Amino acid sequence: MTIMFPKLFEPGKMGQLELKNRIIKAPMVISMATPDGLVTDRLIRHYEEQARGGASLLIVEATHVDNKSSHACAFQLGAYDNKCIPGLSSLTQAIHNNGAKAALQISHSGILRILGAPFLSGPAKVPSPVPEDDSLFPLFRAHGMVPKALTFEEIQEIITAFSDAAKRAQAAGFDMVEIHGAHGYLILNFLSQ
Ligand SMILES: Cc1cc2nc3c(=O)[nH]c(=O)nc-3n(C[C@H](O)[C@H](O)[C@H](O)COP(=O)(O)O)c2cc1C
Repeated sequence: MTIMFPKLFEPGKMGQLELKNRIIKAPMVISMATPDGLVTDRLIRHYEEQARGGASLLIVEATHVDNKSSHACAFQLGAYDNKCIPGLSSLTQAIHNNGAKAALQISHSGILRILGAPFLSGPAKVPSPVPEDDSLFPLFRAHGMVPKALTFEEIQEIITAFSDAAKRAQAAGFDMVEIHGAHGYLILNFLSQ
């Protein structure tokens, strides 16, 4: 049998991280955490099955970095407090025991906090005021979730929240973190909103 993509099954390296092949599972929010973002048995079983699938690295879903405005949706995984570490440690153990390495995607929802309405309340925090003719504005109005421009101090807090969440990921045994800078989340909002 001819192997069409022989490189795919060869070991690879990302920085210092050694991978058994070049198959990486992209991060996908599965909404299986508790309402306050803690790991559940169901969430662990999901990632165990994925690790058994043979990918070298699982990038665990967008995980909110604070308990303020970074949440994007209900039952989203969190890394916003040290109380999240024990559950995240069980998750990395389950992934490692099934042959894959584990990365955590850390994330701030920015304007896409609206995805979580009506389960999440409080404003979406964004880099600058959102004009009322923005295509998302009718959704905000419908859910009473107002987008608010971040202050300089709040931006500093979010930077610290990302760094603290990365340290928690490391303490929980993750091999890597990925910073979510796409799909309309906060970091992308700084480039284009
Ligand atoms: C239900 C769902 C949840 C997703 N969650 C995330 C996420 O948490 N972080 C992320 O970067 N991308 C997320 N994505 C995007 C996927 O990781 C992936 O990039 C996208 O589905 C395109 O991949 P494909 O070309 O293989 O279909 C999500 C996609 C879906 C369908």
